[in-house]
Amino acid sequence: MSGNQTFTMIKPIAVKKNHIGPILHMINEAGFRIKAMKFTHLNKQQAMEFYSVHVGKPFYEELTTFMSSGPIVAAILEKENAVEDFRKLIGATDPAKAAEGTIRKLFAESMSHNAVHGSDSDENAIIESDFFFSKIDRY
Ligand code: CMP
Repeated sequence: MSGNQTFTMIKPIAVKKNHIGPILHMINEAGFRIKAMKFTHLNKQQAMEFYSVHVGKPFYEELTTFMSSGPIVAAILEKENAVEDFRKLIGATDPAKAAEGTIRKLFAESMSHNAVHGSDSDENAIIESDFFFSKIDRY
């Protein structure tokens, strides 16, 4: 059975370009409820830990440098079938392949500068949510 929660980050480039508002609007319009949210700035060590599943991949250094280059918005989102539906809303990891009308098609610039992160499984949604939020920060 699929879970009802996923985790997202609005990445530094989208924050810098004032895209927080439009992206959150699209998330709400698509039926997701914000269960937790934080405006924060990862340091390099924290970005490396968050993306530790990608250690050794050619893009790991660029990705973690970029993700620690400025503030981000982290959030837990609630909806039936959350992981899959959110991945549909954001579109493909590579913005060149993202479908029309998706968040990445509208706001992403490249693979690493792809505007938003979305969990790829229920299991990772839990791990990623726990990285940022304690129980008392969830409503
Ligand atoms: P995200 O959803 O944050 O999860 C892992 C990230 O790694 C992904 O979005 C991309 O930003 C990045 N990524 C994945 N594959 C590549 C790649 N081939 N080149 C550069 N960045 C990548």
